[in-house]
Amino acid sequence: MSAIKGLAFDLDGVIADSATLHFAAWKRLADELGIPFTAEDNEALKGVDRINSLRHILKLGQRALPDDEIERLAARKNGFYVDAISTLTADALLPGATALLDEAATRGLRIGLASASRNAPALLERLGVAEAFEFIADPADHLPKPAPDLFLACARAFDLPPQAMIGFEDAPAGIEAIRAAGFRAIGIGETPLPRADVQFATLADIDLAALLA
Ligand code: G6P
Ligand code: MG
Repeated sequence: MSAIKGLAFDLDGVIADSATLHFAAWKRLADELGIPFTAEDNEALKGVDRINSLRHILKLGQRALPDDEIERLAARKNGFYVDAISTLTADALLPGATALLDEAATRGLRIGLASASRNAPALLERLGVAEAFEFIADPADHLPKPAPDLFLACARAFDLPPQAMIGFEDAPAGIEAIRAAGFRAIGIGETPLPRADVQFATLADIDLAALLA
């Protein structure tokens, strides 16, 4: 019997091919503001919550704005993003997501979502995988990554100790959050995540039986 009883997944860039849509929405906003913003700049925003992402972009542009203007711009970016995900289907699932979720359920593992995105429940519905998640940590109730809170909320919901949990993340801030939670940290994606315990290009490259052994 494996000591691992629960899995906690990030969403954007792990389950869903939506990290590019966050980038496109930020890029559109940055263009409107006249702030140069590249895909490379965007790497630092992965896993980072909405307001802190915007603050990062404003800092790149050396722009100081009042809080109400920052709120307005964050809502504007979110409008772009919500439009972008409104037509998504299961085609936007990343390779191996459905198979891994199915196999984990068959093995009786508890499955939670630890995404910083307030759009996560709507996106899971669009992708047709909402039912696979027994628990979705609410980013409104928790400190943003790299704090461990979203991951710890999953362990708490399942009444499991951190040592019984594995976390999956595509972003440095997320890997730090998993480590701080005391879970095993699995990196996903092509961008090297040196702080992950182990990394796979996609969920399709994971042998769950081997991971649990
Ligand atoms: C995830 C994404 C970030 C995004 C954050 C907040 O962590 O990786 O790019 O900024 O969620 O998403 P939201 O949908 O709430 O703006
Ligand atoms: Mg992510």
